[in-house]
Amino acid sequence: MEKEIQQAASLLGLCRFLVVLTGAGISQESGIPTFRDARNNYKPQVNPAELGTPEAFARDPERVWSWYRQRLGKIENAEPNAAHYTLVELESRFTSFLIISQNVDGLHQQAGSRNVLELHGSIRRARCSKECGKYSVIDVQAGGVPYCPECGSMMRPDVVWFNEPLPQDALETAMFISSYCDLMLIVGTSGLVTPAAYLPHQAKEHGAALVEINPSPSAITSHTDMFIQGVAGEALPLLLAAYDTVDCTR
Ligand code: OAD
Repeated sequence: MEKEIQQAASLLGLCRFLVVLTGAGISQESGIPTFRDARNNYKPQVNPAELGTPEAFARDPERVWSWYRQRLGKIENAEPNAAHYTLVELESRFTSFLIISQNVDGLHQQAGSRNVLELHGSIRRARCSKECGKYSVIDVQAGGVPYCPECGSMMRPDVVWFNEPLPQDALETAMFISSYCDLMLIVGTSGLVTPAAYLPHQAKEHGAALVEINPSPSAITSHTDMFIQGVAGEALPLLLAAYDTVDCTR
């Protein structure tokens, strides 16, 4: 891994505008199972593809809320790991920096990252299901279905469910920024879920270098300039340390 880290650090040294695309893998070392892990471990009655849908919410909102509160309870007990904290450090080295995350756990912000674009929403927030624009913080201890204080409609978790489009403004911003960055660092994503999986291609088409960190090759790996095979909590601190020794052209 050492050679790849050094080469990736050299690429970073040439970069002025850094975008980091993160997926479930970056939170794995915080004890939050990735989607692929979870899919193998979930029992059928809590299959995310069954409960995390608009149809499930219409059918049984109480059950969906109970499941989300359970998931949020676990996330609230989790702590950011070395990978999240390294990205906070990395952000301080760049004047143009953005994390585009597919994760809904909020651990980047909890670690202290400031420029984070959440593509799939946040499990810590609820929003009015009738789009009246009202948002609220989710109370894990509460029971039942919360109602909108503005219009009286049901509140729903502010996450992108299966069969739903991404928030258009977040997606447009992510596509735009991806076309302007010099380097995209891709951490802990399978690269299988679109439209997020298009972002590295958008970056590459516009001339950015792609560096990936993942313990296993992903759908993006063959398109990258440098693949660092390792877990994020080990590889990212090594990359930062190597970057700090590089003679940057910034
Ligand atoms: P996946 O669960 O599909 O993939 C997780 C990736 O993380 C895999 O490529 C793993 O090899 C890698 N990984 C595992 N442990 C790691 C570690 N310690 N360090 C670095 N990488 C590690 O997660 P995503 O690709 O993020 O969408 O999935 C994207 C979307 O699929 C999710 O946001 C969700 C789901 O459907 C929505 O909720 C809309």
